[in-house]
Amino acid sequence: MTVSGIIQFISLTFGIVLSFFPDEYDRAASSWRKGDEDLADDTSHWPTDRTREIIPVNCHSHNDYWRRVPLFSALQAGCIGVEADVWLFDEELYVGHTTSSLTSRRTLRSLYVDPLVKVLNRQNPVTPFHRTVDNPPHGVFDTDPEQPVVLLIDFKTDGAATWPAVVKHLAPLRDRGYLTYFNGREIIPGPVTVVGTGNTPFDLVTANSTYRDIFFDAPLEKLVDDEKADQALSVPSDERLNDLGQGHSGMPNIITPTTFNVTNSFYASVSFRKAVGYPWPFHFTQHQMNIIRNQVRVAHRHGLKVRYWALPSWPVSLRNHIWRILALEGVDFINADDLAAATKGDWKIRIFDWWF
Ligand SMILES: *[C@@H]1O[C@H](CO)[C@@H](O)[C@H](O)[C@H]1NC(C)=O
Ligand SMILES: *[C@@H]1O[C@H](CO)[C@@H](O)[C@H](O)[C@H]1NC(C)=O
Repeated sequence: MTVSGIIQFISLTFGIVLSFFPDEYDRAASSWRKGDEDLADDTSHWPTDRTREIIPVNCHSHNDYWRRVPLFSALQAGCIGVEADVWLFDEELYVGHTTSSLTSRRTLRSLYVDPLVKVLNRQNPVTPFHRTVDNPPHGVFDTDPEQPVVLLIDFKTDGAATWPAVVKHLAPLRDRGYLTYFNGREIIPGPVTVVGTGNTPFDLVTANSTYRDIFFDAPLEKLVDDEKADQALSVPSDERLNDLGQGHSGMPNIITPTTFNVTNSFYASVSFRKAVGYPWPFHFTQHQMNIIRNQVRVAHRHGLKVRYWALPSWPVSLRNHIWRILALEGVDFINADDLAAATKGDWKIRIFDWWF
């Protein structure tokens, strides 16, 4: 990446941070929620203009439902990934970080599925000028209609039990042709790509060989290098059979270089703290850089997008430094966990401290 590329990346990234100032939330909420009828007489509007001027960025809105306006704040900022933690109770999927934060109104459907359907219906209008919907349908971003939004669903409850409910609750998106899917031969892109993490069971993700529209968040540290194909990784049964979180549920006995690929997975991710550790004092060792480079290379060979989570968020200058290194090394998604916290600091001065 050239220096101007980096500057562009950082300014986009920090543009996101700016977008999370409180009044920006409200602006986001009101413009997204306005009905079409409110806009009919206004010549400055067009049918798909909700996302005009928003430039999509590879950021992932971690624990998105904590934001004042879930989904819309992230889209307004241009984040192309959002994350929802789901809990199964009596056939319903409630969204929240812990069971104590759940309410009957905050569900996968009410916070994510229905709003996405609404936005996508708006982005794919049928008018006298445009009589049929394009195939594939346009995505949410007017400036880049081919850019999908990644909906990362973190299964918090038992993987096998939660799976059928997630499949069922995505139906409104599926029925309208809005989901990216695998048809047994190739990936057919759609405006929303659904990825399962947490207790998402790999065996159920791959059970149907001719149709899949929920992709796996592969364990980055377990991807096996093609060059070292003999080093197949056996997975201990207690890891396979228990719901131990991301990359554990429903695993095969042995992981080989062909276990994870684009037919079943989208992301390859790992906790940054566990896989790489913190740069100390304020720079990565050669060993840490090698880990990052190796993981990026292996994931890309498998056709998967690299995402690190559990990135250090403090001090801000350290976090900015890490974001910059990860972008340079080809990491595909920056986990934007703590954007709100970042708005409190004088981040601008600090990033430049690091650069020059
Ligand atoms: C796979 O999914 C498709 C679409 O839902 C369905 O028609 C088909 O019967 C499924 N195949 C199997 C083996 O379950
Ligand atoms: C993708 O993964 C599946 C196993 O999950 C494997 O059977 C298939 O051969 C792989 N495809 C490619 C193109 O590597």
